[in-house]
Amino acid sequence: MRSIEIVSFSRALDRSAFSCGKPDLDGWLKTQAGQQERSDNTRTFVAVDGELGVIGYYATTTYRLDLDDAAAMHGVAKRVYPVPAVLLARLAVDVRCQDEGVGRQLLVHALEGIAQASEHVGFEVVVVHAIDADAVTFYARYGFMRFASRQLHLFMTTKALRASFGETT
Ligand SMILES: CC(C)(COP(=O)(O)OP(=O)(O)OC[C@H]1O[C@@H](n2cnc3c(N)ncnc32)[C@H](O)[C@@H]1OP(=O)(O)O)[C@@H](O)C(=O)NCCC(=O)NCCS
Repeated sequence: MRSIEIVSFSRALDRSAFSCGKPDLDGWLKTQAGQQERSDNTRTFVAVDGELGVIGYYATTTYRLDLDDAAAMHGVAKRVYPVPAVLLARLAVDVRCQDEGVGRQLLVHALEGIAQASEHVGFEVVVVHAIDADAVTFYARYGFMRFASRQLHLFMTTKALRASFGETT
């Protein structure tokens, strides 16, 4: 497993060489992450390797499930109110370092942080938007479940999150 440091986003970090194979995810880190961070819209953490610099990142923001998704999650009749959620909007690892455990370390860091946040802010579920079917498989390994109605969206209840990634586990 590659040894990395996971740190809060800073504009001082050189992201110019970052490439995960998905141009949208690369472009966001290079051109959007800074302004989204400053406006408190997203929180981004980056994985830094001593030699290669920035080799991965993830970004989170708040979210809410619409009523159809909420019904799909609960497998019951439609809810009356939207369900508050946290969204893991992006997660990516540089192609030079994929399959070396960096994605796993970033995801665990994200989920531990979100579990901690759940002690202070109420939300019922964590949602991830996978970029493709491979990413769905990646997230499913960590306990995320699919919405029946959306192939690339997955969720984990806050209860399940805390059981697996909370401080007392
Ligand atoms: C998907 C991605 C984040 C995985 O990161 P990574 O550093 O390569 O993954 P890791 O080495 O930490 O792998 C962790 C586990 O997931 C598995 N895995 C990795 N990529 C996978 C994939 N695409 N599909 C299914 N499983 C995958 C690994 O085999 C490993 O399993 P193990 O713990 O049993 O050995 C990375 O490949 C990536 O950035 N891809 C391009 C962008 C992308 O698809 N992002 C996804 C979110 S939108």
